[in-house]
Amino acid sequence: MDRYHDVQQSYGRCLQTKRFIDRFYEVLMESHPAMRPAFARTDFSAQRRALRRGISTALMYAGGESFVEEGVATMAHVHSRAGRAPVEPRYYTCWLESLVQTIRESDPQLTPALERRWREAMQVVIQRFTDAY
Ligand code: HEM
Repeated sequence: MDRYHDVQQSYGRCLQTKRFIDRFYEVLMESHPAMRPAFARTDFSAQRRALRRGISTALMYAGGESFVEEGVATMAHVHSRAGRAPVEPRYYTCWLESLVQTIRESDPQLTPALERRWREAMQVVIQRFTDAY
């Protein structure tokens, strides 16, 4: 079983910069004209905490940890057509590219191979959200 320990450690280094989640949202907002309107009514102090936990949950899910199943199901539902914040699957490309750009700025130990590992891990949850849409 691949637990993505290398990616988890990279995430830890990113979070040590303190500004990681704020910076991610700055990059995301610039990534597509649909982003600002999507978050127009969002309380960002709550959203920062939710995303910080959400990425951690996504990495554990990619690593096959079954105890995060419920958390992933909740996130998938929130972003489905029936959910509170429906996300058309095509937007996940912007989301992932924004994340990777922010990681590049934040993790001094990032390599091209580690960046591929991040993409591989996040793709698992993106596929799950897409299937649940
Ligand atoms: C794999 C990628 C993503 C993850 C892991 C993720 C994670 C989350 C989490 C954990 C929440 C909070 C859920 C809750 O409050 O119960 C959330 C809410 C939200 N997400 Fe995402 N998200 C992703 C992609 C996206 C994308 C691509 C968009 C926009 C196109 C988006 C827009 C939103 C919005 C609008 C909310 C609701 C904010 C509010 O409560 O006002 N998300 N997301």
